[in-house]
Amino acid sequence: MLYNVKREIPNNLTLLANAKINLALQVVGKRQDGYHDLKMVMQTLLLNDTIFMKKIDEPVVTLKTNLSWLPVDNSNLVVKAAQAIRKEFNIKQGVEIHLTKEIPVSAGLGGGSADCAATLIGMRKLFGLYLPNHELRKISINLGSDVPFLLVQGTALVEGKGEIITPLKPHPFIHVLLAKPSFSVSTASVFREYRGPSRVRNIRHLIKYIEKRDLEGISRNFSNDLEYIISSKSYQIREIKNIMRKNGCIGTQMTGSGPTVFGYFRSRVSANYAMQELYQKGVREVILTGTFNRRKHGNK
Ligand code: C5P
Repeated sequence: MLYNVKREIPNNLTLLANAKINLALQVVGKRQDGYHDLKMVMQTLLLNDTIFMKKIDEPVVTLKTNLSWLPVDNSNLVVKAAQAIRKEFNIKQGVEIHLTKEIPVSAGLGGGSADCAATLIGMRKLFGLYLPNHELRKISINLGSDVPFLLVQGTALVEGKGEIITPLKPHPFIHVLLAKPSFSVSTASVFREYRGPSRVRNIRHLIKYIEKRDLEGISRNFSNDLEYIISSKSYQIREIKNIMRKNGCIGTQMTGSGPTVFGYFRSRVSANYAMQELYQKGVREVILTGTFNRRKHGNK
């Protein structure tokens, strides 16, 4: 094992794990391994979970969270990430992890994957590992398709099953209102229902408007092949989008495999009006946040 001796190795640390939205999600085709080749434009948000990690002498990974119902065993991506690094580097010591969730769970916001990415970076730092970013990315793709992007953060074109990341010019700041309908979805089942052909045509245009920092152009070119599957089953997606539009959002769409809908608002006041109306209509998980563009992981 090689240690990076130049950096101070801490005994514990606190990391932020930022959520993401998909500005575009195109299903390009089905792969031999059962996954789908995708073409996506992803963007990180200010909304984050917080992860506290502490080295312990016992050879175990323990996880505690503020959500009593969240699994804390090896099915949790945080535990998987810590164990994957311990195994790869033959680390005898263990870690105690405290996860404070603020990102809605099973929502299309990449919460579990963001926690996983932050844990990988935390393990690297906590044990002073020589683990270059491209090696970390290789480990990350086996943990989840959104993890490679969430290691990089910012604005990016994401291809393959999620492992090919091309950073884009940083997206301009905008207020982002998130509204999660009362149900959760399984990503695997949404992909299983996807039949195609793709309805997405305009990712080129979206990237052009990101480069021009044109928020109206960006908002006009949102697209998601998976939205139709969810909105054909639930009126809530359409209802939320209508409320967002009525209150002045410049663009709205479902993120990832859903069911969370996001809306871009130039005005915070308008976003607050939309928030109130969404609460009145019984949408309970509504969060006002914004785009987040520090590309280098804030936890390094
Ligand atoms: O990789 P992750 O665990 O996030 O993916 C969850 C499920 O979503 C996979 O088991 C797969 O069924 C589906 N998926 C896919 N193609 C992708 C990403 C995910 O079919 N590129």
